[in-house]
Amino acid sequence: MTDSPPAGSPPTDAPSPEAAQAGRPYAPGLEGVIAGETSLSFVDGANGRLLYRGYRIGDLVEQGTYPAVANLLWSGDWDPGHRLATAPVPPGVLQILRALPTSTKPMDALRTAVSAWGANQDLPWPATAGQARALTAFSPSALAAFSRLRAGDEPIDPDPSLDLVEGFLYQLTGTKPDAATARALDAYFIVGAEHGFNASTFTARVITSTRSDIASAVGGAIGTMKGPLHGGAPSEVVDQLSQVGSADRAEAWVREALAKGERLMGFGHRVYRAYDPRAAALRTVAEGMTNKPEWLQLAIEVEDVALRVLAEKHPDRPLKTNVEFYAAPVLMGVGLTPDLFPATFSLARHAGWTAHVLEQAGDNRLIRPDVNYIGPAERDLPR
Ligand code: COA
Repeated sequence: MTDSPPAGSPPTDAPSPEAAQAGRPYAPGLEGVIAGETSLSFVDGANGRLLYRGYRIGDLVEQGTYPAVANLLWSGDWDPGHRLATAPVPPGVLQILRALPTSTKPMDALRTAVSAWGANQDLPWPATAGQARALTAFSPSALAAFSRLRAGDEPIDPDPSLDLVEGFLYQLTGTKPDAATARALDAYFIVGAEHGFNASTFTARVITSTRSDIASAVGGAIGTMKGPLHGGAPSEVVDQLSQVGSADRAEAWVREALAKGERLMGFGHRVYRAYDPRAAALRTVAEGMTNKPEWLQLAIEVEDVALRVLAEKHPDRPLKTNVEFYAAPVLMGVGLTPDLFPATFSLARHAGWTAHVLEQAGDNRLIRPDVNYIGPAERDLPR
């Protein structure tokens, strides 16, 4: 016996889809919907505060390193001496990177590399901190290898004496970075490590919730971060500043751009209504850099003008500086080309993504929201 009705069933007397779904709240983009619980970070948009496991982002940037912060996210323990070097790219993965066209976007190469890495590993459920460390240590080597291959250079093996960010720069350029340069990029990695239930992190948690593996979760997260609404565009900050040209033109340029309905890159945020604490931390880093770009002073002056004009135009909607504005001079200052910015952001976010994978796997429930049906009412097939 079966419970299903016979084929060609008569119309039901159930309510219409509209009536059956009446009163169900719907928030486009899931804005404001609480879709989980986390102990990893607190993004306090109203007060411009970001805490990783309770610690202030500014203190972590000043006193921590990226491996120590990653370990804090994975384990909950603060060990400022914690080290993590980059890991070699397995030969099978390198072969795949060599086969990519040189025109491949670095985000596509990184996503491919993570997928290939997963295919070369045994990654049993549930994910472990060891898996998180291994993947976080692999990806910088993979991105550096791809960046060299597309330029016709051979990849460089990791130097285990270097910490992760130094190692990444060394494998990218072939030269060991000076301490100040490594420190500046390390600070960027710390501020990029984690940020609540953003779209890519949510993707990683959805994938994990099906009991899929950590490489699939991070590969999916990279795909989500690739979109321009998420991956950010510090390179567009660089473009806008070059259009401004000089501080005396800043006010006229800002007013003209806003009059044309353009957005000022590096300002505004979906969550922050106050100055983004990551921007504050990166501004200090940028100002302290030995190789700071010559346009940093221009950026500071443009920021003052932009904040004043935005406040005048949007008195009820606080639009403050966001992380991208000062990420731009830091990334340029350490010698990265703008097309590497989004993939470098992804490397930094590995700590947060993988920590969320561990958190999700540790107390898992399949993430499967509901949807409101808005199609035609129940009807008969045309005869
Ligand atoms: N420059 C000028 N105006 C801006 C602005 C910006 N950077 N950001 C928001 N606004 C204005 C909008 O035009 C809108 O004005 P209106 O009400 O007159 O139409 C108002 O502020 C609200 O904007 P909204 O799109 O609802 O804000 P949001 O929370 O959805 O957008 C961002 C957040 C980040 C997408 C948006 O601020 C933005 O596009 N910033 C520039 C890009 C950027 O720096 N991205 C990196 C983010 S970390």
